[in-house]
Amino acid sequence: MIEGKRIAVFISGRGSNFKAIMEEIKKGTIKGRIVLVVSDNPDAPGLSYARENNIECAVFKKKNSDSRSEYFKKIISELKMKNIELIILAGFMKILSPYIVGLYRNRILNIHPALLPSFPGEHAQKKALDHGVKYSGCTVHFVDEGVDSGPIIAQKAVAVKDGDTEQTLSDRILEKEHVIYPEAVRLFCDNMLSVKGRRVFTKM
Ligand code: GRF
Repeated sequence: MIEGKRIAVFISGRGSNFKAIMEEIKKGTIKGRIVLVVSDNPDAPGLSYARENNIECAVFKKKNSDSRSEYFKKIISELKMKNIELIILAGFMKILSPYIVGLYRNRILNIHPALLPSFPGEHAQKKALDHGVKYSGCTVHFVDEGVDSGPIIAQKAVAVKDGDTEQTLSDRILEKEHVIYPEAVRLFCDNMLSVKGRRVFTKM
């Protein structure tokens, strides 16, 4: 395994994007190392995969009394201790505090199951179907202070079929997520991405 950038992956659920990225790291195509998996959900299935791969896991359950900024302060101290250089959101269901976004500006990636800026937020695949679009897809972007609103790194379109349900469309989009997310992480770890305003350029 190549050393490279020190990565933290944030998950809340099954973690299939996390696995797709980890597989590429194991193959040596990504110059990075996942040194920490953060979850807000102690029962996230993705945590078992992390433990099987000897990756340290940190579960941060949000207390009702915690404000968003207090909650993320605890996570930030863990990230600092581990010298994290890149944060990958992979199905993490909490909106980050502005402070953590500023601290890791253009070093936090997210994947969204729609062609942004269409259908941000939850249930993106259902929103796309209900709207009647003929193409949806997925988007990898840098995280800013808004919801799914940061500069776009990569997108892949998926055609909507007449017989699609939320599940079948989500499944086909997920296949593409597993392609573009590892690729975007690879570009980041190779220092190939530069951000100018809203536009992200890939150096050749
Ligand atoms: C994916 O559809 C991703 O686009 C969205 O949350 C889902 C996470 O799936 N942000 P997984 O946990 O990576 O399998």
